[in-house]
Amino acid sequence: RAFLQRLWQGNVSSRMLSPRLQRAMKDYLGANRHGVRFRGRRAAGRSRAQLLCALRRRVRVRTLDGSEAPFAALGWRHLVPRVPLGRLHPRGLRSCAVVMSAGAILNSSLGEEIDSHDAVLRFNSAPTRGYEKDVGNKTTVRIINSQILTNPNHHFIDSSLYKDVILVAWDPAPYSANLNLWYRKPDYNLFTPYVQHRQRNPNQPFYILHPKFIWQLWDFIQENTKEKIQPNPPSSGFIGILLMMSMCSEVHVYEYIPSVRQTELCHYHELYYDAACTLGAYHPLLYEKLLVQRLNTGAQGDLRRKGKVVLPGLQAVRC
Ligand code: C5P
Repeated sequence: RAFLQRLWQGNVSSRMLSPRLQRAMKDYLGANRHGVRFRGRRAAGRSRAQLLCALRRRVRVRTLDGSEAPFAALGWRHLVPRVPLGRLHPRGLRSCAVVMSAGAILNSSLGEEIDSHDAVLRFNSAPTRGYEKDVGNKTTVRIINSQILTNPNHHFIDSSLYKDVILVAWDPAPYSANLNLWYRKPDYNLFTPYVQHRQRNPNQPFYILHPKFIWQLWDFIQENTKEKIQPNPPSSGFIGILLMMSMCSEVHVYEYIPSVRQTELCHYHELYYDAACTLGAYHPLLYEKLLVQRLNTGAQGDLRRKGKVVLPGLQAVRC
């Protein structure tokens, strides 16, 4: 509970994590699986306005458009949706919700509030059926990692979770964002199921995030963090928050920074316990959360009781 109090105030470090999580973080630093080389400079103590301005200047949501090698030669220009993700809602969305899959959202009764937003973003295989009271039932966008597309247990082809929504997929690419290397050796091969899905469902908006966007987010987290962060992509949660900040005027994020309901239950829809789901091991999740805490414009009471953070859209940010 003391840790949680400090997290709400943005006053924690990795040294307060369990020895197991600290060990895992160290191992990832040593392994550097994606060849990360941070060339930026640390910017200590930026204010909220400065952070928002830096985000607006530096981070561009980008998806594969088929214009670069190797995708151009593979005919992807005609495979990707005709309307780019950024132009699906040309006048922008007003108020948006990002619903994290954390176990802490159970018994929150946030469903009605979540559904009152103009658009709702959910992650991976997080269901709404049976959990409506706590998580709502509207889904506008679903962000999926490459394991969802490749692991048969998720039934990507026929599950209703992945129908009638905007799909945005991603996979950890090399830090160099060399697309040829990535295409030859993705973490999980999302390219084959993507092509297949596009051919069978040409009218469903379905995008793959460009590795440059993912690693821009990583650079931004490292730049604004004193400690050395794990050299792995940010979590889907952080990616989703930034995606919505670029499409909406206001973003309400639920159970990313945990409420008083904090629990080691990893997901609300699965009986599996691991503190790493909330605090991170592979992903630099603790640092992502500290950064989002600094950006929060919502009330402290909403953070504690609802696990809610309110963030401004990037379009309205003045630099
Ligand atoms: O586990 P999964 O990636 O599907 O969850 C979606 C996102 O929700 C994560 O990427 C993470 O940012 C967030 N999350 C969290 N705490 C949890 C579970 C998920 O912050 N216990």
